[in-house]
Amino acid sequence: MTFKIGLLGLGTVGMGTAEILLDPRSRHPLLSEIEIYRVGVRSLDKPRPVQLPEALLTTDLESIVSDPNIDIVVEVIGGLEPARSLILKAIAHGKHVVTANKAVISRYGDEIYTAANQAGVYVMLEAAVGGGIPVIQPLKQALGVNRIHSVTGIVNGTTNYILSRMQTEGGEFGHILADAQQLGYAEADPTADVDGLDAADKIAILASLAFGGRIKLPEVYCEGISKVSAADIAYAEKLGFVIKLLAIAKRGLGEESKQSPLSVRVHPTLVPKTHPLASISGVYNAILVEGEPIGQVMFYGRGAGSGPTASAVVSDILNIAAVLKSTLNAQMLHPLLSCSHQDYCAI
Ligand code: HSE
Repeated sequence: MTFKIGLLGLGTVGMGTAEILLDPRSRHPLLSEIEIYRVGVRSLDKPRPVQLPEALLTTDLESIVSDPNIDIVVEVIGGLEPARSLILKAIAHGKHVVTANKAVISRYGDEIYTAANQAGVYVMLEAAVGGGIPVIQPLKQALGVNRIHSVTGIVNGTTNYILSRMQTEGGEFGHILADAQQLGYAEADPTADVDGLDAADKIAILASLAFGGRIKLPEVYCEGISKVSAADIAYAEKLGFVIKLLAIAKRGLGEESKQSPLSVRVHPTLVPKTHPLASISGVYNAILVEGEPIGQVMFYGRGAGSGPTASAVVSDILNIAAVLKSTLNAQMLHPLLSCSHQDYCAI
C-alpha cells in the first residue's frame, strides 16, 4: 500500500519534511509506503538543498488539493491565506491533512474540524505547537484520562531566547532583539513573537485540547515582552525569580471557577528559580501539564526549526497512514472534536 503525499510548501519545514521522507536511513517501517507525489512551491527556479524530481514541482497549489491520486495533503506554507482555503479544499476533496499552521488552527479550527468530520478525514497538527515536541497527541491520548488543571508553557523560542540573554547579559530588550535578528534567532518582522501572538495561537490550541472547549483567539489575554526592561530582570533576580513569557491555561478553583472557569493568557511572568520552567533557556520550549491523577508532566525540546518541526509533521503522516492501515483507533486522531473533557468546556 502506498500513501501519496501532496506537499504544500518547500520552505524550512517543507524541506525538512522532504529530507526525512527521502532519507534512506529513516527506519520507520511505514516510511517505505509514503511517496511524495506532488510539491507545491511559489517559484520553480529557486535553488533548493534537497533534490526533488522537477516533475513533482508545481506552482499550482489548487491542483494538488484536488488531485484524485493524493491521499494526504501536508500544508506547511504558513500564514492564514491561502493556507486556510487550501486546507478546506483538500478536506472537501476527501484528503487527510497534516498542518503545522497554528494561526489557521487557532482561528479556524472549528470550521476545519467540522468540515473534516463531515468528510470523514483526519486533520493532524502536532507540528503547530512546540515544533518537534510531541505534545498534541500525548494531551489527547496518553493524558486523556486525566482531569487537567493547568497547561503552562514556554511555547515561543524567540522570546525565550531574548529573555534568557537579557537574564545572563543584563542587556536591554531592543538591543538583544536587534542582535537576535542579525544572528537569525528572530524574524526580520518579530511582531508575532515579541507581542505574544504566536504563543497565544499555541495556548489556544493546547487549551482546547486540554479542557475540551473551543478556545478562540480573542478569548486569550495577550501581552508581549517589549516592555520588559533590564531593571525588571535584575530586580526579579534579586528576589529569586526569572522572567519568562508564559502561555497559561488554567481552571479556576472553588468560587473562582464560577466567575471564570478557565483562564487562558500569555504574559511575562515572574517564575521562581526553583520552578521547572525557570531553567528552560534559549530557543527551547517546555510545556508543563498538571492534572489528576497524573500530577506534573513536562514536555521539553526544540520548539522550532526545520528538523524538529518536520519530525512532528512526518509523525502525523505516519499516524494517518497507520490508521488507514487500521493499526490505531481512528477516534484518536481528531484532537479538537473528539475530546473526552466536554464537561470542562469553558469561557
Ligand atoms: N516563531 C516561533 C518561535 C517559531 O519563535 O517559537 C515556531 O512557531
